[in-house]
Amino acid sequence: MWGGRFTSSPDAVMEDINVSVDFDRHLYRQDIAASKAHAEMLAKQGIIGADDAKKIAHGLDTILSEIDKGSFEFKRALEDIHMNVESRLADLVGAPAGRLHTARSRNDQVATDFRLWMRDTIDTLDTALAGFQRALAHKAFDHAATVMPGLTHLQTAQPVTFGHHLLAYVEMTARDRSRFADARKRLNESPLGSGALAGTSFDLDRDMTAKALGFDRPTANSLDAVSDRDFAMETLAAASIAAVHLSRLAEEIVIWTSPLVALVRLSDKFTTGSSMMPQKRNPDAAELVRAKTGRIIGALNALLIVMKGLPLAYAKDMQEDKEGAMDALAALSLSIAAMTGMVVDMEPDASRMKKAAGEGYATATDLADWLVRALKIPFRESHHLAGKIVAKASETGIALHRLPLQAMKAIEPRITDDVFSVLTVDRSVKSRVSYGGTAPKNVRSQARKWLKRLAKESK
Ligand code: ARG
Repeated sequence: MWGGRFTSSPDAVMEDINVSVDFDRHLYRQDIAASKAHAEMLAKQGIIGADDAKKIAHGLDTILSEIDKGSFEFKRALEDIHMNVESRLADLVGAPAGRLHTARSRNDQVATDFRLWMRDTIDTLDTALAGFQRALAHKAFDHAATVMPGLTHLQTAQPVTFGHHLLAYVEMTARDRSRFADARKRLNESPLGSGALAGTSFDLDRDMTAKALGFDRPTANSLDAVSDRDFAMETLAAASIAAVHLSRLAEEIVIWTSPLVALVRLSDKFTTGSSMMPQKRNPDAAELVRAKTGRIIGALNALLIVMKGLPLAYAKDMQEDKEGAMDALAALSLSIAAMTGMVVDMEPDASRMKKAAGEGYATATDLADWLVRALKIPFRESHHLAGKIVAKASETGIALHRLPLQAMKAIEPRITDDVFSVLTVDRSVKSRVSYGGTAPKNVRSQARKWLKRLAKESK
């Protein structure tokens, strides 16, 4: 299709390095939709005949159903999806097919197709992320009062509730979704009609094609339109951050389900056995989510590196934008599905969690806070006194709430019996009523708020 000035065909290696149809075939829906919009606009502007446009549209519909059915024969010699479709169109409708590429280049074509594909993919990911949030919020509601050890540095810090922990991921996922929504908003401009780089000499109606394809408006600079891939970079950045969030929860599931920790149990649905060790139940799905994050971030890095040295406008380097992005976003989609399944499936061991929450003097902060409240001791000082009381208790290896009052009085004589009202883990979480805190009633109302919001948006 571009062979006019060529006398021999490309070397086999040239074909191998140049071909993109193996992956850009995934753009077929978008490519066909964009071609239909272009042809219709050309006809309306009197650039091609209405008859030709009709034949083109009909042929494109046939091609769409052939590809959907799997009967379309993709030819590597035709390089990419654009030329595969156009060549088949010529088989089907003859001469009018040759008019479709008027006032169009593969450069604006691919930029249009890929934006449309990204937009569709973002919409699918958003629906999946909403499902993930729903699963988390449901589990959080059920476990609003299930006490677990809250950790910093992976060391026992303060008791929290399992529900509160899960709602943290609902918040993260909400931000992930808003990052995707933001990327979607910015990418939703139509490059179609930018030509190879300079625009075209034909009197196009770019607003018409933009509208037909659901874009907000046409892009305003033809050089920019064909030569930037920031929409793909931005979407991959959003995907990378979302994947990092999923990976952190995956890592927690790996830790929680280890027999050494045993705070959470996954069913057989999301574990695998070992071919040698009969006792094993491995959290493979969580591990793979953790690992796929590497591929997703890798795709972002690869594209940033591809783009960083390219002068305007289009260069063939940019063909390398698709494989990584498609692979990464498919990996993210699978990861969201697997994490959603695991969240629905997992069950905490509430009594082990509670016991673990009370170990490691997790209510020492509650003791220090009591000293501030009841005895008006400055926090810096109460922190020091509580530390001494913890040291005393750990000498004899007993829990804070079992330490005799006399032993505490030896350190601060004004301490009374009332101190025991804050030293159990249940009391501790119940007292964390500040907005955003872990108190079961907060968690319940936050979970309810999310469930309501998510139910509303799915309508
Ligand atoms: N397959 C190409 C890509 O993905 C389409 C654009 C080709 N344009 C060109 N001038 N060679 O970028």
